[in-house]
Amino acid sequence: MLEIAQKLLQPSKRSDVPPFIVMDVMAAAAALEAQGRSIVHMEVGQPARPAPATALAAARAALGQRIAYTEALGVPSLRRRIARHYGEVHGLDLDPGRVVVTTGSSGGFILAFLALFEPGDRVALANPGYPPYRHILSALGCEPVLIETSAATRWALSPEALIAAHRAKPLQGLLVASPANPTGTMMDAAALKALIDAAEAEGIKVISDEIYHGLDYAFAAETAAKLSDRTLVINSFSKYFCMTGWRVGWMVVPEPLVRPVERLQQNLAISVPSLSQIAAEAAFDGKAEMEGVKHGYLENRRILTEGLPKAGLDRFLPVDGAFYLYAHIARFSDDSLDFAKRMLNEAGVAATPGLDFDPIDGKHYLRFCYAGSAEEMHEAVGRIGHWLKG
Ligand SMILES: Cc1ncc(COP(=O)(O)O)c(C=O)c1O
Repeated sequence: MLEIAQKLLQPSKRSDVPPFIVMDVMAAAAALEAQGRSIVHMEVGQPARPAPATALAAARAALGQRIAYTEALGVPSLRRRIARHYGEVHGLDLDPGRVVVTTGSSGGFILAFLALFEPGDRVALANPGYPPYRHILSALGCEPVLIETSAATRWALSPEALIAAHRAKPLQGLLVASPANPTGTMMDAAALKALIDAAEAEGIKVISDEIYHGLDYAFAAETAAKLSDRTLVINSFSKYFCMTGWRVGWMVVPEPLVRPVERLQQNLAISVPSLSQIAAEAAFDGKAEMEGVKHGYLENRRILTEGLPKAGLDRFLPVDGAFYLYAHIARFSDDSLDFAKRMLNEAGVAATPGLDFDPIDGKHYLRFCYAGSAEEMHEAVGRIGHWLKG
């Protein structure tokens, strides 16, 4: 009987994915705040500001209407608006028929992985990288293949490293992200093109996560949609448009994959929340406001890149984009989990241990998110300096 009960309650092996450590840091920070402690939050990768006023107004107005299912691929006017965005930003004439609206880029990963890969397929990822890439792939029965990168290559995957991994054991996929999380580094158009060309020439399917596009400071980010019409592009309203909780994103899908993705979306989600799609379309009219927010990140980036070295954390690469800084902490600790815990408890600054992003060398790194206010950045630098020197 006991045996049967155990069997009934046995979770599937595929559900045995590791937790997202940043969530544990958030919980620990919240517990300290509940005790009355002041905490500077630099752990979670989300903007502190709300969605553009244009998006909020459109959502408020829509609440008077019936909120119903939409087409599985998304509201046609939003798909057209997204396609127009590629014309405005990248000079690309994109067929709106290739645009698919998703529940954040997270929903896009599930659709893309299911549409492109078979169980057992091997998909290359740069290490360090965003943890859910590997966790979603393994939950879907695919094999994430981590390829080591280093500060010496600005954490970018090179065509040589990709092809070497492919020769060692064939790959079916590659996921590339620029600007990248957690490092904030970017690949320029030529480097991205070389990587995509090398992969596609070997029959390796490419996905480009462009969620941090718009938040580029060093140079303009290039979209993979312009470099190859065989690459699947994933993007989101979460970061540039400050709409994390609205759960709305999009994909640019190679034409032959549109119908398979549509069938998957029909079955998995029916449609993306309609209210969020209405808000997302109006968000494009709030770009001036979002450029102001971006300007704030630029100032935060300056405060940290100038202030952290004085505080004692002086080993990190120039931050090209997104809103992250990935600092080497080996001078102080070879246990980033413990270091992050002590920094939270003793200095009141929450950051994410590198182990979340890199199971191999992440013990030597911390990721700081600088999407908060300038005052918070000054406060963080001051607290860390005091703590490390104290
Ligand atoms: C690199 C990267 N991709 C995707 C996501 C998921 O974002 P969303 O599902 O909100 O679009 C995140 C969130 O932090 C991220 O950092």
